[in-house]
Amino acid sequence: MSNTSHSDAVVALRWRDSPGYGRLEMVDQTRLPAVFEYLSYDSAAGVAEGIRSMVVRGAPAIGVAAAYGVALEALRQQSQARAVFDAALDAGFTVLAESRPTAVNLFWALERMRRCQTHHINESAPEIAAALLAEASAIHDEDIAINRQMGEYGAALLPDGARVLTHCNAGALATAGHGTALGVIRSAVAAGKRISVIADETRPFLQGARLTAWEMVQEKIPVTLITDNMAGHLMAHGEIDAVIVGTDRVAANGDVANKIGTYMVAVLAARHAIPFYVACPLSTIDLSVASGDQIPIEERAASEVTGFRETQWAAEGVKVRNPSFDVTPAELVSAIITEKGIVPSPNADSLRALFD
Ligand code: MRU
Repeated sequence: MSNTSHSDAVVALRWRDSPGYGRLEMVDQTRLPAVFEYLSYDSAAGVAEGIRSMVVRGAPAIGVAAAYGVALEALRQQSQARAVFDAALDAGFTVLAESRPTAVNLFWALERMRRCQTHHINESAPEIAAALLAEASAIHDEDIAINRQMGEYGAALLPDGARVLTHCNAGALATAGHGTALGVIRSAVAAGKRISVIADETRPFLQGARLTAWEMVQEKIPVTLITDNMAGHLMAHGEIDAVIVGTDRVAANGDVANKIGTYMVAVLAARHAIPFYVACPLSTIDLSVASGDQIPIEERAASEVTGFRETQWAAEGVKVRNPSFDVTPAELVSAIITEKGIVPSPNADSLRALFD
């Protein structure tokens, strides 16, 4: 398989071939940046647990991981009787679909894998397994190419010298490579623009502090880390020229679900007349949901809010809310950057036109 050949410094997922089977290796993003370690997976249930526990996270990366999860299950079961193989594969699809609810790329990738299975349904189990692995690998490779294409389009939006705020991590770690929002920044830097990044720390899971800041430091792109409640102050003092974020699901009307806190940033950006850009592949746009209020929002464990790892700072037994995503209404989005081009002020018509 060819997908380990790209040159990005940060590789979140990689496939390791072995005769007759293989394994998926994923950087454990729960431990970055203190520990850089790949964990190895050989089953759908294992990959589903990696997604649920956020070893791998970020919408496109979750989709790629889920696709490999299906392929791993098929390879694992390929010498079983056909009925056992089929049942195991069905169970694999189910456990992966139940891992996280918000990022539509997960369901998009599983649907694509299901279509591949159906297409090869009259072949032997090993042939189906080989076809599923080829499909997962294609999804992996395509994601890198799409991110580079988005990067090229999006880079044109950033003036030389721009100070760009981002929320959460929409970088190489959140994708097969290059990144969506950080991909735009990488491409602008590669085009010779002097870009600096302001990274929101992104409570409670700290994707900004732990992942985005780390990615930028790895690549020597100037980055300044702030806590989430500092963005308004910096905007009011003219220290931010643009905002770019990724997204987990865009509704048909252009509403954007992304990491909790994104909505707050979008409101602030509008208040200060700062452009608010969203970078995402077409696989993140879900025309089947009319508006953002229909997007399922994951609620995660209270322990993410009451403390971090071994440290607990909140009172024992306190009531907690931990919605992991919020919805930014389309009216606050200056443009969506996709692999098919830039969609200014997205709405139902302009988003549907992307799929024609
Ligand atoms: O909970 P996470 O870390 O999976 O959330 C990730 C985000 O919100 C990203 O911004 C989004 O998936 C886009 S990644 C290119």
